[in-house]
Amino acid sequence: MILALETSCDDTCAAVVSTDGEIRSNVISSQGVHDRYGGVVPEIASRHHLELIGAVLDDALARAGASLEQDIELVAATRGPGLVAALLVGFATAKGLAAAHELPFAPVDHLHGHVAASFLAPRPFEPPFLSLIASGGHTLLARVGDRGPDFDAIAQTLDDAAGEAFDKGARLLGLGYPGGAALERLARDGDPLAFEFPTGERRAGLDFSFAGLKTALLYRVRELGEAEAERRRADLAASYQRAIVEALSIRVKRALLETGLGRLAIGGGVAANGPLRERLGTLEVELDVPPRELCTDNAAMIASAARYVDALSYPDYLDLDVYASGEQVLSAR
Ligand code: KG4
Ligand code: ZN
Repeated sequence: MILALETSCDDTCAAVVSTDGEIRSNVISSQGVHDRYGGVVPEIASRHHLELIGAVLDDALARAGASLEQDIELVAATRGPGLVAALLVGFATAKGLAAAHELPFAPVDHLHGHVAASFLAPRPFEPPFLSLIASGGHTLLARVGDRGPDFDAIAQTLDDAAGEAFDKGARLLGLGYPGGAALERLARDGDPLAFEFPTGERRAGLDFSFAGLKTALLYRVRELGEAEAERRRADLAASYQRAIVEALSIRVKRALLETGLGRLAIGGGVAANGPLRERLGTLEVELDVPPRELCTDNAAMIASAARYVDALSYPDYLDLDVYASGEQVLSAR
């Protein structure tokens, strides 16, 4: 069995997954202390990871009925991209555990983790497929040829990530942080066609851009004035959400056409969004939509990815480092 830790942002996560991809436990402790700042404060996230990681780890082992001594064959952790101070907690803890038991260790790319959520039992989705990863930090389309970490990124965002667009919109509408799920809830009572927001349909290419959309919402709220904007909050949320969903699905459709791939998997926190899941469900492709708790950050996806990474034997991993950017993670491999 594989024990994995994930602490790249503000969720403290530990999971135990069997080598054939069965989840034995998947523990997520969301810190919920960052909303008052309107974003994640790295040093606070790091300190909370330190406080929580021991209990989260023990809980993951206990729920799996597994012991480090007898059942764990491989330890894994997210190496990046993410907040360095946050990553360090999970990565150093995992390396320490592996070293104490002289177990092999697998450093995992967070984005490979989101893709590898699709490889978990009971319905592993076989490559090749197109992958849409949309989270608070990333929005990318990738051609996934096999289960390894070498997938081919074919599009990314030119500015904000899709989750960031949700979070910034939510903030403008007076919702807490992170705001994606709250905006989705508010939008349920609104009309998605009440306001027109840009979807980038006329812009060529596969890359995403969300900065203009956020500005359009800001201007619309100002035009309406405080009282009217307040009265029409649900309509604003529904129309704004619709624009993000359309922006994503327009480019997914283009990428499917360009690559000739007939299969699509989605991942990342934004893939938890109901209207996005429904919209992509209308495309004529074979679609893999992992359960919501496997779309947002979790350690089961990291354990899943670890199965396809070259693990290092004890003690060769002791001086491995964590990295903030995806490019650094790639060049460290
Ligand atoms: O993958 P994730 O948990 O962490 C990162 O790696 O960033 O994604 C978090 C992002 C946040 O921006 C959050 O607002 C968004 O995913 N999100 C959602 C929903 N649930 C989470 N966005 C839209 N609808 C949701 N239901
Ligand atoms: Zn993520």
